[in-house]
Amino acid sequence: MNPQVPTATEKPSAATTARLTLDGKDYDLPVVVGSEGERAIDIRKLRDTTGAVTLDPGYGNTGACLSAITFIDGDKGILQYRGYPIDELAEQASFLEVAYLLIYGKLPNANEWKAFSDLITRHTLLHEDMKKFFEGYPPHAHPMAILAAMVASLSTYYPDSANGTTDLNIARLVAKLPTIAAFSFKKSVGQPFVYPRNDLSYCGNFLNMMFSVPSEPFKISPVVERALNMLLILHADHEQNCSTSTVRMVGSSQANLFATIAAGIAALWGPLHGGANQEVIEMLEKIRADGGDYKKYVAMAKDKNSTFKLMGFGHRVYKNFDPRAKILKAAADDVLKALGVNDPMLEIAKNLEEIALRDEYFVSRKLYPNVDFYSGIIYRALGIPTDMFTVMFALGRLPGWIAQWKEMRDDPSSKINRPRQIYTGALKRPFVPLSAR
Ligand code: SDX
Repeated sequence: MNPQVPTATEKPSAATTARLTLDGKDYDLPVVVGSEGERAIDIRKLRDTTGAVTLDPGYGNTGACLSAITFIDGDKGILQYRGYPIDELAEQASFLEVAYLLIYGKLPNANEWKAFSDLITRHTLLHEDMKKFFEGYPPHAHPMAILAAMVASLSTYYPDSANGTTDLNIARLVAKLPTIAAFSFKKSVGQPFVYPRNDLSYCGNFLNMMFSVPSEPFKISPVVERALNMLLILHADHEQNCSTSTVRMVGSSQANLFATIAAGIAALWGPLHGGANQEVIEMLEKIRADGGDYKKYVAMAKDKNSTFKLMGFGHRVYKNFDPRAKILKAAADDVLKALGVNDPMLEIAKNLEEIALRDEYFVSRKLYPNVDFYSGIIYRALGIPTDMFTVMFALGRLPGWIAQWKEMRDDPSSKINRPRQIYTGALKRPFVPLSAR
C-alpha cells in the first residue's frame, strides 16, 4: 500500500449506535462517522445478525465505501479533492497535478512532479498496430464507442499481470487517452492522425493532435489551453457517481485496469450521466431552431405527460448549485469574450437557467444547473465537436476513476461487489412441456 495515500478511517464512532427493532428484537448497529461528520449506519453484519437485507434501488441512501478522495456537500454546494476546494484547484493547478493529487493522495513536490510529468510525456504514443483498429470503424462511429473499445484493447498490449506495472499502466492510460480521443476525431473528419509531441503541455498536446493539419500547424491559444485545463480539472472526480461506481464494481472482480476503465467509459456515455453535455447542446440547438422559445421547453420539462427533461439540470447529490456549474458559467462568458465568439446558445442557456430558478417546479425539486449545463458551450467555443463532449468528460474523469479503483484495490479488506435482492417472482412450480402449453 502506498504510505502517502491517506485511507478512509474504519473506526466507527464510539459515541452512537443505531437501534433497529425487528420481530420484537433490538439490534444495535454501529454508526460510522467520516472526517467531515457524515454518518452511516454500518450494516455489514446486518444479514448475519437479523436475516434481513436493506433495499435501496439506485443506491440513493447507500454508502458503497469509505473514501478519502473527494468530498461533496450537496446541500452547501461544496466539492473538494483530497481537501482542496475545487475553485482553487481550477484556478491555480494544472490538470496533471490534480491527477497526481487524486491518484497518489498529495500534491506532487518538484521531484515527484518531474517524474510523473516525464512519465506521462513518454507514453503518449499508441502502438502503431493500434492505428489499424480505427480503419474498421465507420466514419460516423461515436467516439465514445471507440474510446471504450480502444481502452479495453490496451490490455492486449500491456497486460497488468506482470507485478509492479500498476503505476506504469496508470501513466499509460493518462498519457494515451488524449491520443485515442484525438485520433477518433481525425478519423471522423477524414484527416491524417497528428502524433503527440513531447514539447507541449498535456492540454496543448491534445489540442495540437485535434486541430493541426499537415498544411497548417495549429496555433495553440493560451486562453483555449487554460480553459481546457480548467474543464478537465472540474470533471476529474465526483465521489461515487454512476461511472465511478461502475469502475469500483468491475474492478472489485480484479479485472485488469484497462477493462475496468473501459466499463467506466461505457457508463459515462449515458444521457443521464456524462452524455448529458452533448444532450444539453442538442437541446439548446433544438430550442434555437424552434424560434428560441425557451419558455415552451421549460413548460415541457414540467409536464408529467412529456418525457422531455431540461438536460444539464438536476443532480442526485447537489440540492444547491453545482459548484462546477458556477465556475463554468463565469468561464463561458470569459472564454467566448476572449475568443470573440458570440454563441446564441449561451443566451438561451442563461434564459433557461433564469426562468427555471424562479419556477416552483424546479425550486421545489431543488433542480439547479449541473456540470453539464455550461460545459458544452465552452467546448463549442474551443472547436470541439458535439459528439466529442462526453469524450472530454472522460478525459477529465480518468484520474478520478483511477484513484477510486486504486483506493479500492489497495484496501486489503475490499471484496468482490455482490449486492443482494428481494425476489418477487413466481413460487416453485413444475415444468410444463411444450405439448401441454
Ligand atoms: C452528471 O452523480 C454524479 O455525481 C454525476 C456527475 C458527475 O460529475 O459524475 O455530477 C455528472 O451525471 C450530472 C447529471 C447530468 N444529467 C443530466 O443533466 C440529465 C438531466 N437530469 C436528470 O435526468 C436528473 O436530474 C438526474 C439523473 C441528474 C438526477 O436524477 P434523480 O436524482 O434520480 O432525480 P429524479 O429523476 O428522481 O428527479 C426528481 C424529480 C422528478 O420529478 P417528480 O417525480 O418528483 O415529479 O425531479 C424531476 C423528476 O422528474 N427532474 C427533472 C429533471 N431532473 C429531475 N425534471 C425536469 N428536468 C430535469 N432535468
